[in-house]
Order: sequence, then structure tokens, then C-alpha cells
Amino acid sequence: MTVNLSGRSFLKLLDFTPEEITYLVDLAADLKRMKRAGEPHRYLEGKNIVLLFEKTSTRTRCSFEVAGHDLGLGVTYLDPGSSQMGKKESIADTARVLGRMFDGIEYRGYGQEIVDTLAKYAGVPVWNGLTDEFHPTQMIADMLTLREEFGDVRGRKLTFMGDARNNVANSLMVVCAKLGMNFCACGPVEQMPEDGLVETCRAIAAESGCTITLTSDVAQGAADADAIYTDIWVSMGEPAELWAERIRLLSPYQVSSEIMAHAKDTAIFMHCLPAFHDTETTIGADIAEKFGIAEMEVTDEVFESAQSRVFEEAENRMHSIKAIIYATLK
Ligand code: CP
Ligand code: NVA
Repeated sequence: MTVNLSGRSFLKLLDFTPEEITYLVDLAADLKRMKRAGEPHRYLEGKNIVLLFEKTSTRTRCSFEVAGHDLGLGVTYLDPGSSQMGKKESIADTARVLGRMFDGIEYRGYGQEIVDTLAKYAGVPVWNGLTDEFHPTQMIADMLTLREEFGDVRGRKLTFMGDARNNVANSLMVVCAKLGMNFCACGPVEQMPEDGLVETCRAIAAESGCTITLTSDVAQGAADADAIYTDIWVSMGEPAELWAERIRLLSPYQVSSEIMAHAKDTAIFMHCLPAFHDTETTIGADIAEKFGIAEMEVTDEVFESAQSRVFEEAENRMHSIKAIIYATLK
């Protein structure tokens, strides 16, 4: 059956079939080829989109803006302080206003219920650019990156090391289950994904013929992995007071050369970025001063190694967000 995502919102990957997700990855690959070849693809001229950011961003914002311009769209950006949403105007009212002006709405912010409410009232597609619970656009980029490396992702093993209950880890567990990739969450028991989501993903994985494993054992988690993935230890929106506890809990899961050595020789290192792999940031320098550590979720050696695909992932954000916009607005 031909996939048709026209008019659909993109809120979380649990809402999409494996065929629909694969279609988006295929489309992202096509659009990447076109961009590289310099073939114009202004398929959506005359339409307009708005980007609502309640949290900061480099990749997601720039990807939506560049993808929008490449597709011929008008793009409006609203930063955290500059709209009435939530303060003077409810989410539902904001959605109904923006839906009358724009053909699509991107939202980055807090609870998943906010993006769900926007989608319920907007009357146009809404795209989740990251919530506390999920980061679905990142997943299309990551699956494209894995496919470029390995071809078919089915039967491969992806291990997420560290804060295995954050938005990126949750989304990886879902997309792996959907696409038949074995997923391992490797971290302390305190930071494992919620039971309900694990159960849901295990049921999906059973249908796709893959597994979902949770372990606190680093060697077991990394063993024979095709990809080791990590993310920041304290996510946006979480209080800075959490750093001390997270450093204590997650330091054993810092992705180092020793951990990479447990994985396959062909394994790649992945990270959604931004990453704390040195002290070249204000937060990194502050943590180094307070806690005496110069690297956090990944060592600088692994980040800069030949196994690292972090900048391929970052580039693929743009191609995959373009695919999501095009598929839902065409
Ligand atoms: N990976 C990612 O979403 O990056 P930004 O926070 O820079 O958008
Ligand atoms: N888990 C991170 C992802 C950033 C892209 C955060 O929410 O801050």
C-alpha cells in the first residue's frame, strides 16, 4: 500500500507504522541526494510554517528553517519569550490562531500534552521538535545515519548508554522496536525507561522480530553493539541541582574507548548533540570546576574518533525534517 502522510501531525513515533517511518527515511535520503546534486525542490511554494520554541536549539531550529527555505516555504520563528502562548493565551487558543495563518506548526518545549493539544486544535499538521518525553524528528535522522552505515538496520543492535529515560532514549527504544533493531538501555536502575513504555515497545518488538533489553552492566550492554548512543546527563527543563546526582549515577556509563572496545569492530558512536566532551562550553567549564571532571557522557577521544558519526547525524536532521515537512504538507 502506498504511504500517504498528507495532513498528518508528527507527534511521536508510536503513532506511525514501520512502513510510514521507513517511507520518511527513504524520502530523507532522496531529498539529501537532491540537495547534494543541486536539484531544486521548492515543492511547497506559497505555504507558510511557524516554529514555536520554548527551549533553546541549534540543529532543530536551523533544520526547520533551511528545510523550509529549500522547499519554498515562508518560515516564522517565535522564541521562548516572544509569544503569548501559555502566559496570556492558552495552548488551544494559540493553536486555533496559528492554524488560521500557517500550514504547519513546529513545537519544542515541555510536556507531550502541549504538542498534543496544539495538534488537536490547530487544524494543520503539528511537528514535535522535542518534548520532555520524545524527540521523534531526531529519530528519522538517526535511522538515516544508521542506514547509510549499515544498509538495513534490522537485526542490528543499538545500545543507549546513560540517562536511559530521557526523550532521546525513549524515542530510540520506540523507533528500534518499530524497525526491527535490537535496543539495549544501559544505565543505572534509577534512570531506566518507564515500565509502561518498555512494555509497549516490547510488544511492538515482538511483532518486528527484535528485542528490548535493560541492563546496568556496561560490558553486557555494549557487547556486540553496532552503535553506541549517548546523550546529555541533565536534559533541558531539568533543574541544575540534578548535576551532582547524575554525575554520581551516570559516570560509570560515560562512553569511553574501553566501552567502545566491547562493541563490534565496525561499531559507530552516535549522539544527538549538543555534547559535553570537553570544557569548551560555559556549563562544561562550570562542571569541571565544581566536580573535577573534564568530560561527561562521552570522552573527547571517542567523540573525535573515526567511529564517531555525530556530525553526519546533525546534517541528517535537516534532510529528515525536510522529509517530514514535505510528506505532511504536500
Ligand atoms: N539534537 C538536537 O535536537 O539539537 P538542538 O537542541 O540543537 O536542536
Ligand atoms: N535530552 C536532551 C536532548 C537535546 C537534543 C534534552 O532534552 O536536553
